[in-house]
Amino acid sequence: MLDQLIVTGSDGSGLPLAPDVMRALAGQFPSVHLAPPHAWSDDGVAIGAAAWCSDAIDGWALDCAVDDADERGDFVLRVLDADRGGAVCLEILNRCQRTIRRRNHFSQNARFDSLLSAHRGMHDLAKPLVRADFNHARDTWQWVLRLDREASLPLQLAALFHDVERLATEADRRVEHLSANYQRFKDRHAAGSASITGSILTRIGIDAQTCKRTVDLIAAHERYSEEDVELRLLNEADALSFFSLNSGGFYDYFGPDHTRKKIRYTLGRLGDRGRAHLAGVRMRHEVRELFEECGG
Ligand SMILES: [Fe+2]
Ligand SMILES: [Fe+2]
Repeated sequence: MLDQLIVTGSDGSGLPLAPDVMRALAGQFPSVHLAPPHAWSDDGVAIGAAAWCSDAIDGWALDCAVDDADERGDFVLRVLDADRGGAVCLEILNRCQRTIRRRNHFSQNARFDSLLSAHRGMHDLAKPLVRADFNHARDTWQWVLRLDREASLPLQLAALFHDVERLATEADRRVEHLSANYQRFKDRHAAGSASITGSILTRIGIDAQTCKRTVDLIAAHERYSEEDVELRLLNEADALSFFSLNSGGFYDYFGPDHTRKKIRYTLGRLGDRGRAHLAGVRMRHEVRELFEECGG
């Protein structure tokens, strides 16, 4: 679990962060302790701020390094050469937040531990597309809790399980770009995820009411709603995870045309609260250009 952040300048010394940056980091990632340089351990993950800002970072390699460190236990994230300001720390924590594992009183218990285990057990993490889906699920869960610290159990479960249909249909290759009607494809995907999740939660012994609400949220998760607050949060969390974690890999896999379509679709799933978080999200320049072209 990511629990410490070290920020250093180009001379290797600890970098004092501006008060507004400190406030933003403490407010959004209260469990991540800002540590001095000597707290560094070789088990941690180091990221150069200049490389991060210039797209010189291999996003997939970074994600693998973060996941490996997370597997080993608690780890330190070190941001190097951060002389130009601490805002980069917020961007990097947004990228890595799946390893912070924020919870609330609905999810800080043994029952949720077993749900996390069941969710993980569905994923063959040796497959890159499945690994990407697993990370996206955990990241969406974290975005839900950031948007609403009181997120209900069904909403948290919906965030975790919302895309499990892809494990059956897109584990080895993606097909969404082949669909003639994108919304219809996404609605079918949502219905499939809802059906699979309903079976799993029932088998685990989750109560009928929680199960039904979770399934209903997942079945509708590809449709933004102003009326259903939880459905709106799920859409926004899912959309934020696309921009903060998945958009670079999506571009590499699908190319610019389908990424443009995906960005336009995803922007339609973001309300004002979700959009406000995009200020702390770094997108690769190719993605950023498409994002701006689409009115983001
Ligand atoms: Fe989905
Ligand atoms: Fe998703």
